[in-house]
Amino acid sequence: MLALGIEGTAHNVGVGIVDEKCRVLANVYDMVRPEKGGIHPREAANHHAEMVVPLILKAADIAAIDLADLDVIAFSQGPGLGPCLRTVATAARALALTLDVPIVGVNHCVAHLEIGRGVTDARDPVLLYVSGGNTQVIAFARGRYRVFGETLDIGIGNMLDKFARECGLAFPGGPILEKLAADGGTLLPLPYSVKGMDVAFSGMLTAALTLRRSGASMEDLAFSIQETAFAMLCEVTERAMAHLENDEVLLGGGVARNRRLQEMAGRMAADRGAKMFVPPGELCIDNGAMIAWTGLLMHRAGVRMSVEETVVDQRFRTDDVDVVWR
Ligand code: ATP
Ligand code: FE2
Repeated sequence: MLALGIEGTAHNVGVGIVDEKCRVLANVYDMVRPEKGGIHPREAANHHAEMVVPLILKAADIAAIDLADLDVIAFSQGPGLGPCLRTVATAARALALTLDVPIVGVNHCVAHLEIGRGVTDARDPVLLYVSGGNTQVIAFARGRYRVFGETLDIGIGNMLDKFARECGLAFPGGPILEKLAADGGTLLPLPYSVKGMDVAFSGMLTAALTLRRSGASMEDLAFSIQETAFAMLCEVTERAMAHLENDEVLLGGGVARNRRLQEMAGRMAADRGAKMFVPPGELCIDNGAMIAWTGLLMHRAGVRMSVEETVVDQRFRTDDVDVVWR
């Protein structure tokens, strides 16, 4: 079986092709890079509209397949930015109708988890999903992927990117801060906001900017933000693992590329006799391959969607998905 997936929930548009063994045959993408400020949904959607067809052709080329050989077309149905979602859904519908191949809409958060299960040895992990817009602790329970904890305000990646931007650094700020943090060593006091199973980051952002204005070094600030924010994430993830008696943690989302987060989550897992898994970086960030793989799982389990059912959902919740493939 061959599935093609199109991802386009935010600033990235990606196309991936996978087979029934979760072998990634192609995984290409293109990112909008705002000249300044954050991403504008309409601008991102225009970018996706321009790039999606070239990316589909490029993916087919890399995978060395004929588009006519595809068994299913999958796309990111939500959650995400409305104009971006609609653009990608339109492309997916057009492709599916042209090729006369079934179409399936995929929940973006579920896809981050499924690709991790597909390419690592994790079987039934607790997913710590950390990206720009999302921060969630997700696990499978009673037929659904359920959110056990999440951010009460902004996603961790947005916090890192906003802090970096306010300090004059380029976008995305997360990887730049990771490099700076390696040269920091003084742990500055920042709010540690864990509320039950949830976390909050906007207080940390404000406090870090205040410290910056009073002369704290970028290295120490980057170090302190990472240590504090990642400890919060590890705490809630560990609590979910304890409650669920689960001994696997999987990282996903762009921030999962951070070595320090991997080290801390790995240490937390080892300390409790559990295992930590991280997919390769290209599959951590938003990507078409994860959409293709989840679409393939759904299709193989008998999920069928009419074109009318492919309407996008900006607030598509993780636990809205009936996980019939598990
Ligand atoms: P979503 O739509 O799922 O919220 P996204 O559009 O933010 O995702 P991703 O590619 O999953 O896209 O994640 C991007 C985020 O990951 C950015 O905030 C970026 O700063 C962060 N990031 C990438 N690499 C690192 C790193 N090494 N350390 C910390 N953060 C990182
Ligand atoms: Fe994502």
